Amino acid sequence: MDFMKMIEDWQRVVARSVLVFHHVCAVTGVFTLLGVTAAPYIWDPSPGGTALASAFATGLLCLLALCALGGGVRYAVYGDFKLLPTRKFRDYFSGEDDGGETTAHIAPPLPARTHRGSDDDLVDRVGELISGGDTDGFMDIFNQLQSREALPPGEISEELAPRIREFGLERNCEELWEQGYTVIEDVAPPAYWRDLRATILKAGHPGAMGSSLMQRYPVVAEATINPKMMALAEFSVGAGFILSNVASSIRRKGDRNIGLHCDQVWHPVPFPQHNLFLTACWACDDFTLESGATTVVPGSAAKRRPPNLDEIGSTATVPIECKAGSIAVWDGRTWHDNASRTIDGDRAVLHVSYTRLMMRQMEVYARSVQDRLVEQYGEPMAQVLGRYDFLAKPEGKAYADGFLRAIAYSRR
Ligand SMILES: [Fe+2]
Repeated sequence: MDFMKMIEDWQRVVARSVLVFHHVCAVTGVFTLLGVTAAPYIWDPSPGGTALASAFATGLLCLLALCALGGGVRYAVYGDFKLLPTRKFRDYFSGEDDGGETTAHIAPPLPARTHRGSDDDLVDRVGELISGGDTDGFMDIFNQLQSREALPPGEISEELAPRIREFGLERNCEELWEQGYTVIEDVAPPAYWRDLRATILKAGHPGAMGSSLMQRYPVVAEATINPKMMALAEFSVGAGFILSNVASSIRRKGDRNIGLHCDQVWHPVPFPQHNLFLTACWACDDFTLESGATTVVPGSAAKRRPPNLDEIGSTATVPIECKAGSIAVWDGRTWHDNASRTIDGDRAVLHVSYTRLMMRQMEVYARSVQDRLVEQYGEPMAQVLGRYDFLAKPEGKAYADGFLRAIAYSRR
């Protein structure tokens, strides 16, 4: 029997029991309120207004006292107070979920990594070394990882190569590296694309930004972890890459152009040789010059800087033309703009961007929201939410295997 696991399970049972107790208190309070309010009728078939008001006030006090009892038990166990319980465990505990001992939130264990390299075997040994106090063993692994040769920019790692072959992405990798953009097809069935387009239209014109899209619409969450897209993203922004932002847009005739720019613009210039940021536009409608396609300057990623003021107004671009049901992808250094839409109708696009694991994301998600998404979508979601590395976590470097994994992944 795994004793530690048993204790963890019991902690989870207790955490949920507090929520159940709080609900029982609230329901009992409501029945008490009804009972006490009706009590004057026992003695008098037509009680006076004063008697009824007094009975209602007493019942209300009983309801508040019982809710406070439930909240008090929560406070006694977890150190914070809520007067009313909510329907779901996650909602009840959101906001105090940094993983500390005094919080009610108990994060579920992360799914095991399946896309593994030889360095993952080294990382897996670290837990045992730390618990045994073997500092020399830990430093030995650290040194092996930090001295590993990094994958040169534009190359495909040994671990990734089988997936690139499986999805037939060799040409896309070449185009993305040499031209700074590419288009991938056959990522999802037509029914999925119809659902995605309807969801974007529901989210509204000109579009919705922010993490709420992922939580609200499964079709959006599924796009962020599409296996074919993830393979291309790993080629461009490295192993262990993370999600930076998710947004929807609807483009109509007359909508303003965004102007020539590159996406990783908040990074110092010159940009490094490795790409840091990747944008994937899920085209739910055809991309043509007339429909307002994204336009790019092929090869501009090699300049490793954003366009200057003269270049913004004078540089020629070419449209990324593709059929609805394709993803237009570009490097974070590629200069791009969009064409004016000159035809009627809506152009619906889902924009998903990824970044190297050491970059900060454009959007962050509450830990409880991340846990819910990871429970629902498993390992790929845990990766794009950055859960396998130690960066930007309450425990910092104390998350020892996450610390070593960040070093290992940054080499490939
Ligand atoms: Fe952009």
